[in-house]
Amino acid sequence: MTKRATREVLAPGEEGRAAHTASLSRCRRCPRLATFRDEIKARHPDYYCRPVPAFGDERARLIIVGLAPGLHGANATGRPFTGDYAGILLYETLHRLGLASQPQSVAIGDGLVLAGCRITNAVKCVPPANRPTADEIRTCAPYLNAELAGIADGSVIMALGRIAHEAVLRGFGVPLARYKFAHGARHAIGRQVLWDSYHCSRYNTQTRRLTEEMFTAVMSAALREVS
Ligand code: URA
Repeated sequence: MTKRATREVLAPGEEGRAAHTASLSRCRRCPRLATFRDEIKARHPDYYCRPVPAFGDERARLIIVGLAPGLHGANATGRPFTGDYAGILLYETLHRLGLASQPQSVAIGDGLVLAGCRITNAVKCVPPANRPTADEIRTCAPYLNAELAGIADGSVIMALGRIAHEAVLRGFGVPLARYKFAHGARHAIGRQVLWDSYHCSRYNTQTRRLTEEMFTAVMSAALREVS
């Protein structure tokens, strides 16, 4: 990444946020992901097919970090977990806990508002087969890192899955080996707290690796820390 691009991504404050959003929206730093997006756009001209920005309360002290936009979900709608199977359990749970104004997230413009929570992804572009490469995760990291740098002391980050967990640790500049990923694990990192959950993916929910009860329990525990 060039020095100018790094400055754009990491600039602080109101102006920095605008630069961050603009820089994210035109990002083509990962050739494989940019080409994949172009191919999807050619097949589905109505899809968003750009890097998907964070969504929700800008002052939130609960930040949820997913993996990456789904092909026919967030990549199509332009909002994290919106239209994705994984978003069903996520938004229902947020609504039940009083963080979302409605239980379903269908599309930008559906009236959904999040209060006290914000949702983002470790990787902002849809990856083929839902699998970003290690290089792509690293190249995308400045966007997540800038988001993490902007959160208030005492915030809680909920990592959905190991890739999100590791991306957050790298963002905080702490050794991965010191903080092991486990469902329900809580890690105090400086002035922030990182909680882990299994990702609420179709596979994990349909195999019952992650049940509704497990997800509600871990989200409630994280929420108690910021309430
Ligand atoms: N959609 C997202 O936005 N993120 C995920 O991790 C999965 C689906």
